[in-house]
Order: sequence, then structure tokens, then C-alpha cells
Amino acid sequence: MTKELGVGILGCGNISTTYFSLSPLFKGIKVLACADLNPEAAKAKAAEYGVKAQTVDELLANDELDVIVNLTIPDAHFAVSKAIVLAGKHVYSEKPLTVTLDQGKELQALGREKNLAIGCAPDTFLGGAHQLARAYIDEGRIGRITSGTCHVMSPGMEMWHPNPGFFFLNGGGPILDLGPYYIANLINFLGPVKRVAALTSMANPTRTITSEPLKGQVIPVETPTNIHALLEFAEGATITLSASWDVWSHRHANMELYGTEGSIYVPDPNFFGGVVEASGRDKDIQPLKDWDHPFGKANQEHPNGPRANYRTAGLADMAMALIEGRDIRCSIDRALHGVDVMTSILKSGAEGNFVKTTTTCFKPAALGIDEALALLA
Ligand SMILES: NC(=O)c1ccc[n+]([C@@H]2O[C@H](COP(=O)([O-])OP(=O)(O)OC[C@H]3O[C@@H](n4cnc5c(N)ncnc54)[C@H](O)[C@@H]3O)[C@@H](O)[C@H]2O)c1
Repeated sequence: MTKELGVGILGCGNISTTYFSLSPLFKGIKVLACADLNPEAAKAKAAEYGVKAQTVDELLANDELDVIVNLTIPDAHFAVSKAIVLAGKHVYSEKPLTVTLDQGKELQALGREKNLAIGCAPDTFLGGAHQLARAYIDEGRIGRITSGTCHVMSPGMEMWHPNPGFFFLNGGGPILDLGPYYIANLINFLGPVKRVAALTSMANPTRTITSEPLKGQVIPVETPTNIHALLEFAEGATITLSASWDVWSHRHANMELYGTEGSIYVPDPNFFGGVVEASGRDKDIQPLKDWDHPFGKANQEHPNGPRANYRTAGLADMAMALIEGRDIRCSIDRALHGVDVMTSILKSGAEGNFVKTTTTCFKPAALGIDEALALLA
């Protein structure tokens, strides 16, 4: 196996900028070409980042590429990832892996049959804050985790995304869009989920875009925009997860986990950095000492202050895992289990029953300071 994988980017929309701009931080990957259904989008990114613009078919047939990154919209993920595997290349997909469990299972089977790797975002659980929390939990500092709460709630996406329609269609909604960050983090801390129950609803059957350039356009809402779920983990912990785009303001923390010896307060799983706090039985909540993790260091300016953004770390980890012959942290098994949890939540909401998951996975290896440094160029 070579020491660097040639990477193609398929889907040159909003998030592609992050992949183009951050991939040079990492070892083991080199972006060489890109494509999009819209050739102008591919040409613009290619010119900006000095790579080759191709048609989708040319990209799939490009011999220089070992892995193609699927940055298309959720509803296209399955067909596009399948085409990549059938073209004989490894896949790294943006989340969600697929919008149905059957699609995800088919993809997993195809990857195994063709002996090709399929990795999937999110990789934010590899961030300094989340790995600090992981180390604290693994050391037994809060004892055995028995319960917790997660909340990700906002008024929606139509006020910032330039083309927000897909967020409200099949495969969108806050659970499939933002749930992956929370579920990946929970798998990182607690392992797999056994069963779920949920109540789901939507505040409005249509929404009006207020962002440019589609301002004023009315878009349909076809998926629940308000979800209250209960998750029972195989290890025994019971967690509340609420995900909503029907909430203008609230005072809930992103993630709190309660153990037999104390509690831990984990920052937003959508980001790599942030302050982790914890208390023991004395109830004295204190920030954990920063441990200088490379994926917790601020590297970008943001309206809310400097931010750590190392998206693409999961792709780099997959490339190095293939080169070194080890487990991929953002593996298809974990992403598929995430899809199982999320689609089970939606099914429970629709049918009013507890739903048992039918897939499982094991916790990814922790990514400490040395392991993270080993991924950087
Ligand atoms: N925008 C973000 O901040 C963000 C953050 C994290 C993850 N994501 C995820 O990344 C993915 C893409 O999101 P986005 O915001 O960049 O969307 P986007 O709509 O801005 O871009 C998607 C691009 O994919 C192209 N495309 C769609 N179907 C295609 C197909 N079948 N073949 C080739 N190209 C196709 C579109 O033409 C478009 O240029 C989604 O799964 C989303 O959940 C987005």
C-alpha cells in the first residue's frame, strides 16, 4: 500500500470548501480531482484549490484516485457511494451514511465483497474536547455512566444555508442531520444502543427561506422537525436525546452524562473543541485541565470566536488505517449503527413503539495526543 492515497471529491457544494481547505493539514491523503452534477461548481472549486475538474464518470474512472469523498446531499449518498465502490475505489461519505438502514446494510455488504473500505463522517468525536472526555470516562473518573441528556435545538437551517431544501426532505430533519454528531459521540463514550423510543412532530408543513439567494421561496417539510428520543445502551445507560428545528431559544446543555461517581459536561459534538467540565460526588463542577490535544487547538476565526476545526481528520484516519492495516475510527459499522439508531427513532415516532436496533458496533479506539499528532502532515 502506498503512503498517500489519491483523493477525489464528489459534490462541490457548501461543505466541500472545508475538505479542500483542511485536507492539506493531514498525512496520507492528497486531493487530486473533483466533480459535481453541476460542472460549474466543480470547475470553481478546481480552480480555487488547484485540482482537476472532471465529470462524475471521469472521476469514478480516474486511476490516480484510491478514495472518493461523497459530499452530495443525503438522499444521493447511497447511490453515489455504491457507484464509487462499484468503480473499485474506497469511499468516505459525509453523514448520514444513508437515509435507510437497508441501503446502509447493502453498502456494508458490497464493501466487504469488494474488499473496499467505506468510512463516514462525523469525525468531530476525534476532537480534543471529546477525546479528553473519553479519556476521563475511560479512567473511571465519573464511575459507570447510568444516564444522560443531549439537546440539539434551534429554529432551523433555512436562515443560513444557501440551498436548504434538502434539510426538510426525506433523509434530512434534525435527527438525520445533527443526530449523527451526538450518536457518534455517544458510541465513542458508551458503545452501541440496544433500543429506542421517540415522540416526533413538526411545527409547520412548509418553511420560508430567509437566506440568500433563495430568500422568500416556500419549501415543503416532509420529515419531523421535532424529536424527543430515549436511548438504552447495551452497557445499560439510558439517555434522552432531543433534536429540534422548532425551537427559538432554550437553556439546555448539549451533552451531560451522569455516572455513579460524578457527572461530565461535554461541549457541542458538532465541533472539535470546547470546554469539558466535570464534578465528583462533591457536586463541585470544574473545567477539566486542557491537555494540549492537537485537534482541540483553535485554527479558524468564527463570529462566536476562534474555533478548532479538523474536519477531514476522519478521512485521514481512514487513509492511515488502510496504510497501517488497523481499524478505521469513522468506520461503516459505526456509521451504519448510527443510521440504525436514527431510523429506529423515526420509526418509533411514527409507530409509537420501542424499536430494537438490529446492528451493533464496538467503541472506536481512543485518539490521544500522540495518535492525533501521527495523523498530521
Ligand atoms: N454544509 C455544512 O455545513 C455541512 C456540515 C457537515 C456535513 N454536511 C453534509 O455534507 C453533505 C453536503 O452538504 P452541503 O451543505 O455541502 O450541500 P450542498 O447542497 O451545498 O452541496 C451538495 C453538492 O452535491 C451535488 N450533488 C448532489 N447530488 C449529486 C450527485 N448525485 N452526483 C454528483 N453531485 C451531486 C450538488 O450539485 C451540490 O453541489 C450533506 O450530507 C450534509 O449533511 C454539511
